[in-house]
Amino acid sequence: MDLTHRPRRLRQDRVRGLVSETRLEPSDLIAPVFVDATTDERRPIESMPGHERVPIDDAVARVEEVRETGVEAVMLFGIPESKDPEGRRAWAEDGVVQEAVRRITDATDAYVITDVCLCEYTDHGHCGPLEDGLRTDDDHGPARDPTLTVDNDATLESLERIAVSHAAAGADMVAPSGMMDGMVAAIRTALDREGHEHVPIMSYAAKYESAFYGPFRDAADGAPAFGNRRHYQMDPANAREALREVRLDVEQGADVLMVKPALPYLDIVGTVRREFDHPVAAYNVSGEYAMLHAAAEKGWLDLEAVALESLLSIKRAGADLILTYFAEDVAERL
Ligand code: PBG
Repeated sequence: MDLTHRPRRLRQDRVRGLVSETRLEPSDLIAPVFVDATTDERRPIESMPGHERVPIDDAVARVEEVRETGVEAVMLFGIPESKDPEGRRAWAEDGVVQEAVRRITDATDAYVITDVCLCEYTDHGHCGPLEDGLRTDDDHGPARDPTLTVDNDATLESLERIAVSHAAAGADMVAPSGMMDGMVAAIRTALDREGHEHVPIMSYAAKYESAFYGPFRDAADGAPAFGNRRHYQMDPANAREALREVRLDVEQGADVLMVKPALPYLDIVGTVRREFDHPVAAYNVSGEYAMLHAAAEKGWLDLEAVALESLLSIKRAGADLILTYFAEDVAERL
């Protein structure tokens, strides 16, 4: 038997670490945190076991729990005490995220990233005000016409206000997730104008219209009341389009490029990694978390093992940072 090449030589236990290509660290991970202005006690999120919506008074404690695991960065989502067609609570100075950011940055050294979007703040659940000023409750309105969608340019003005209000409250980084055309340029210009030129933008650059967001929409109370988001989020069929989307965000000044979801879109993560030299983030979304938990609950998968393998694979595909609901569990074991 003449076997010159025996890859198994390097799979022996004592050498595996030396030749390992990918290493996952707690500093790669960002933990999503939900702050809820409608409650004064913690509320478990049923479809995301282990996660809760916390009241504003518990925001600091929640972030300290995250930091105890070694994870330094959080992504904040807010559930406002009231909603309206424009989502005005999203940029209120006393809004839920603004208040939570002030408290967290006063009390901790956490790196605080905020989600900049309107879907949790509009009563119709879309990521911006609707075209033509039509309201969800109009009888002849959008509920009947699924082609009616978000008014892109009006949304940009709101996103500017939201981003500036988050930065003014002390946010370290802002992350626009609404997939509006021109959102990065609008936010960059507004931040610079208001003296926040040091606040980076992590753009949800290639965000797909994905059914894997289901549990999040329960968690953040942001499901669209009618229709879906396919007129602004990307078609899962498209990969080349993702490059065009990402390139636009680069041209507009995005600092970090995010692909979302992660596991079903690792080809996109890999391509963005190769084509651009910016840091690449991947969002391991709620559905990716929920399905592993559900299978583990049935005894069909080993949760710790599949969680770790998922995050390692996302990193191997090219992500530098990973947003994940597994952040705390995995960081504790690294
Ligand atoms: C929109 C937003 C969504 C998620 C993050 N930001 C939901 C959506 O587009 O419907 C989803 C995250 C997840 O599923 O974990 N503000």
